[in-house]
Amino acid sequence: MREKLASRPLMILTSALPGEAASLCEHRVRLRVFKARGRRTEEEVLHCLSRADGAVTLLTDPVTASVLSRCPHLKVVSNVAVGTDNIDLEAAARLGITVTHTPDVLTEATADLAWALILGVARRVSEGDRMVRAGRFKGWSLALLLGMDLRGKTLGIVGMGRIGQAVARRAPAFGMRVAYTQRHRLPDSVEASLNARFAALDDLIGAADVLTLHSPLKTETRHLLGAERLAAMKPGALLINTGRGPLVDEEALVARLQSGHLGGAGLDVYEREPLLAPGLRRLPNVLLLPHLGSAARETREAMARMAVADCLAVLEGHPPEHAVAVGKGQ
Ligand code: GLV
Repeated sequence: MREKLASRPLMILTSALPGEAASLCEHRVRLRVFKARGRRTEEEVLHCLSRADGAVTLLTDPVTASVLSRCPHLKVVSNVAVGTDNIDLEAAARLGITVTHTPDVLTEATADLAWALILGVARRVSEGDRMVRAGRFKGWSLALLLGMDLRGKTLGIVGMGRIGQAVARRAPAFGMRVAYTQRHRLPDSVEASLNARFAALDDLIGAADVLTLHSPLKTETRHLLGAERLAAMKPGALLINTGRGPLVDEEALVARLQSGHLGGAGLDVYEREPLLAPGLRRLPNVLLLPHLGSAARETREAMARMAVADCLAVLEGHPPEHAVAVGKGQ
């Protein structure tokens, strides 16, 4: 019996997972669960992964080329996230390691959160909350904390993948027009069903009253919104980011908000997460969340199950359902 157990592959979780996901592993692998540590260093990730055959990782784990190259048994890394920018996909492919992620199950929760930020910034929800808590609310007043009407305004969506489209689907409820940009234009039928018009990135930036970012972070999308493009946004426009922090030059964003050029920002992600650019936290017209995009109970449980199921699939010699990079033998 002991011998049989030792011959099972070693699967590691870099953190305990929500729900029942870990129970899928019973009698199939040897399981080792590490204590959640927030953002780990490469050496700490290596310590978790070095003897593993399969690993379930978080977006705060830097799974770099240097880490991957020092894990001789590793066949699969399953990230509990849709984004995989914490993993060196090229190195994984070179080393024959499969990488999986958790698309679809988090789409609606993340789109909901983007709208929470849009509504929150447009209607100055956190400013109002802070005013009431601080005892500064002295009674209703005609001009108190006036925000932006969304009806009739243009919602600009950068990145019209699953989440961008889910954000677009909610727009008619708030009377917003939708324009979008991404590398490949959507088929006419999809554009028609979303009532969304395609625009080149720079045209979209100049036209949007609310610009919301849903592109993956890659070398070519880092600082997609740099100082120049931020300066080209419509005066008074709002910027929403639930994608990845480095899509935006955060210091340039702070400058645009401080100057009053932009009307506000709703951020769930940061360029040097969890650090904030100097001055950001002191701005009244920003709503700042601690990377909560998919943080709804059922969603996180579904993400955990998906990652574990894909990791097990690879360890048992089957193709995973949600691969972003496929290793040897898959
Ligand atoms: C969250 O940011 C994710 O990529 O799932």
